[in-house]
Amino acid sequence: MTQSTTIAPATPSDQTERVLRIRGHHRLSGKVQIGGAKNFALKALAATLLTTDEVVLTNVPMIADVISMAELLRAFGAEVDVLPEDDRVVVRAKTIIRTDAPPELFKATRASVVVTGPVLARMGEISFHMPGGDDIGRRPIDMHLRGFERMGATVTQDAEGITASAAKLRGARIYMDYPSHTGTEALLMASTLASGTTTITNASAEPEIVALGNMLNRMGARITGLGSPTIVVEGVERLQGVSEVCMPDRLEAGTYAIAGVITGGEIELHDVREPDMLPLTEKLLQAGADVWFRDNRMLVRAGDRLDAVDIQTLPFPGFPTDMQATLMPLLTQATGISRVQERVYEDRLRYTDELLKMGADIRVERFGEHGEKLATTAHVYGPTPLHGARVKSLDIRSAVSLVLAGLVAEGETEVTDVYHIDRGYARFVEKLSGLGADLEDTLISI
Ligand code: EPU
Repeated sequence: MTQSTTIAPATPSDQTERVLRIRGHHRLSGKVQIGGAKNFALKALAATLLTTDEVVLTNVPMIADVISMAELLRAFGAEVDVLPEDDRVVVRAKTIIRTDAPPELFKATRASVVVTGPVLARMGEISFHMPGGDDIGRRPIDMHLRGFERMGATVTQDAEGITASAAKLRGARIYMDYPSHTGTEALLMASTLASGTTTITNASAEPEIVALGNMLNRMGARITGLGSPTIVVEGVERLQGVSEVCMPDRLEAGTYAIAGVITGGEIELHDVREPDMLPLTEKLLQAGADVWFRDNRMLVRAGDRLDAVDIQTLPFPGFPTDMQATLMPLLTQATGISRVQERVYEDRLRYTDELLKMGADIRVERFGEHGEKLATTAHVYGPTPLHGARVKSLDIRSAVSLVLAGLVAEGETEVTDVYHIDRGYARFVEKLSGLGADLEDTLISI
């Protein structure tokens, strides 16, 4: 049986627009269950294409990007059951029926780029167009393609798209200029079925990649060095099915932790992994909040002060670029000047213009020897009282940033382009409401 699900609770028409309306100044408290990680679940779904056996994924976040990825797998010929009632997805990719990725489905998410690895390894060819994803800066895939070439693939690029082909991939020494997250994943998956040994140097050490590698090992792959800059993969003939629980989403956990601190509240997060949270935990402590971990729970309590802190975004274990926007509203409420250096994506501070409409005092500097945009730093002057406004989400994380700002703003905030939140957060309004936030997902006339 093949099922799909609708994520959006309200469907806008020509005359209406969907907004999240938030009435601020409520102290959040209580418990919240953290769901499975988007940036793991999407790659685990891609990994199902590496085997003819059944793969069962549980604790899957029921978000729009997961539905898109399920559609992409179906287009390749996999049978996919999406079971929202128990957060489970079952995939059987007995046969792969095509090697050209349908452009619309491929462009729906960034994560689709990682299916290139499994399809190339299993079928000897993959054709695709550039993947989509958030508009947060340059997002090339040169390292993925160079890695495929090192493994013996022929890669061609023209107006029709990109094709990589190799009758059989062979193990290779691959050096990545930068520890690309999806680049490491695509190459890791491709190399599991290559002949011989592949070494990926300057590999990404993000927790979701460690989890993906562990899943692949349970499927029969032979991978060592996960979580370090050098991953070594001994190719095997075939991989088998697996039943895998998606790891908790550190970015979702960070969102509710910040929501608690920014509103002067106290939140208990269930299903959180302490090592994954350290970059954020450190900043919350520096800002004056209290944080405790016990087993897989995290307790966050606002302190009696909120101090400015500096952050710079870096690959793991540095501070995640995906949490930069989420932390920003808190910095607007902290005393002093916080410096936020975005070092992964040059356009990932654009959303701060929306926070200015709510009264924030954030000044963004752009750097670059020849005037090019290379990195951006925001100077956040706080504390500034925020007031409600109509503001526009630009991507998943900026959407959430605006909602968090709405939680401390005077009056009503309306966040538009809510579909960004659907892409990355399951049961967002329900979870925030459960903690005492006053918000609704509604349609307004335009
Ligand atoms: N880069 C290159 N060449 C490449 C690949 C990347 O120059 O071939 C550069 C990019 O331009 C960027 C940097 O390397 O400056 C990092 O890019 P990376 O490849 O690591 O990012 P990604 O794999 O496209 C994933 C997540 C993002 C997250 C980044 C960084 C998925 C689907 N996306 O993107 O998540 O911000 O890693 O950790 O896994 C999000 O969840 O909101 C999100 C945007």
